[in-house]
Amino acid sequence: MKKMEGMQLIGFGENNTIKAQKQRAKDKKNPFNEQPWQSANRISLDLTYLFDTPGDSPSITIEDIKDIAPQVIKAHRMLKKDQGDIYDHGIPMTGWQNLPEEITQRHLEEIRSAARSLGSRIDVFVSLGIGGSYLGIEATFKALSHNYFNQLSRRERGDAPEIYFLGQNMDPDYFRDTLDMLKGKRVGINVISKSGTTTETAIAFRILRNLMEKNWGQDAKNLIYVTTDPVRGALQKLSKDKGYKTFPIPDDIGGRFSVLTDAGLLGLAMANIDIDEFAAGFKYMRNITMSDDLWQNPSLLHSGARYAAWLKGKKIEVVATNSASLYSVARWMEQLFPESEGHSGHGMWVSPSLYPEKLHANGQMVQQGERNILETFIMLKEHDNRIKVPKDRDNLDGLNFILDNDQDMNSINRIVIEGPAYAHYLGDVPNMIIEIPRRNAFSLGEIYYMMERSVAISGYLLGHNPFTQPGVEDYKKAIFALLGRPGFEEKGKEIKDKISKMKRVKI
Ligand code: PA5
Repeated sequence: MKKMEGMQLIGFGENNTIKAQKQRAKDKKNPFNEQPWQSANRISLDLTYLFDTPGDSPSITIEDIKDIAPQVIKAHRMLKKDQGDIYDHGIPMTGWQNLPEEITQRHLEEIRSAARSLGSRIDVFVSLGIGGSYLGIEATFKALSHNYFNQLSRRERGDAPEIYFLGQNMDPDYFRDTLDMLKGKRVGINVISKSGTTTETAIAFRILRNLMEKNWGQDAKNLIYVTTDPVRGALQKLSKDKGYKTFPIPDDIGGRFSVLTDAGLLGLAMANIDIDEFAAGFKYMRNITMSDDLWQNPSLLHSGARYAAWLKGKKIEVVATNSASLYSVARWMEQLFPESEGHSGHGMWVSPSLYPEKLHANGQMVQQGERNILETFIMLKEHDNRIKVPKDRDNLDGLNFILDNDQDMNSINRIVIEGPAYAHYLGDVPNMIIEIPRRNAFSLGEIYYMMERSVAISGYLLGHNPFTQPGVEDYKKAIFALLGRPGFEEKGKEIKDKISKMKRVKI
């Protein structure tokens, strides 16, 4: 065999995701303030397969939605007026609801300029955080970027640095592997923690800070941004002492609702994501979801549908997508809903799935397992790239019909949702389809705002505060206690005593 050359992508043009990344670095923007463009990029909610599933388990009917409509509208009106069980430490946690209206061009420009200032001095940007201080940024970044972003050249990334995430787990191997990616490179970080006391983020920050100081001494402080609560955040003092640049997370916005605050915007601007367009998507959906008409308001309908499903015994929500990029959005929903709804024995377990991969795994359970599942599809309509299946003279795999039927990977990937939606409906799984026209910042803003409003309404319907997470705080305290953190010694002793008295069952 003669010497083998590397593969050329013959017949494939430029990757449109890379094209979009390069474009982001330039000034030309999508016309996101113009009505035709907005309508073309409006996400939709299709409830066709939600109602009257034909199997034996209790089905959801239009009448169910009509019956709960007054409760939903009441909740919606209370939310608009900041009324009800919405307080955390005496603060109404609804700052996110008018944020799309309140955010200014000037503020967005400041964020962009802070990102440019750090981004131009570094090769790698690491975002440190967990939960709501992590997922929104990663979700949006992954949703809009090349799947192998960090392996592309800086030019192909649209002049953005490589982007990594740390602090979201405590795995030393993962941490060390990520450090290997930073080796020999100029590194900048943004540590995001509203409380400033979250163990995972704090440990990751301490290790990186230490390493950066060893490398760059005094200059390290110019490579570190801190995003935290401006008043109560425990990171404030450290930042002041060390001279770090800080960004605020407003005290009336909780972590999982914070992607449009500096907690999310800075990291997105670092990836050159158009944060004006992102904010415009939020604003557009906010205007739509101010409507008191349940049948015109996707947040109300979505919330009502989920509540009706829950009342009918649906305790698991499979959030399935046909886009590897938008899978991250399903992961964001996996946090937003359970962390807000999981109180007092309420709530649905959200299971993010990428189809068709998962159709060959838990797809069996969805079709024929216990009928306690609601399914929500996030269907991407237009992928960035089109890929044709080539004609084959011998047709031994029998696939030539795809071309004969004028289909390609894109149309097949639509059917990957349309087929299961119908089959699962027949299998007694009520489902709804949220269609995302394209992967752009506007659509992401729309879906986030729609979901934030939906889960807030859900809190009112279930009868508890969706903006607190006492269960998460419990685990944070248990970790402090078991680690022996000063102030938690008593608690630590108590937990260890109890554990030592438990009958061990281990083989
Ligand atoms: O949604 C939330 O409030 C949580 O998921 C928090 O974002 C998460 O616990 C991290 O908290 P902090 O930002 O205080 O480090």
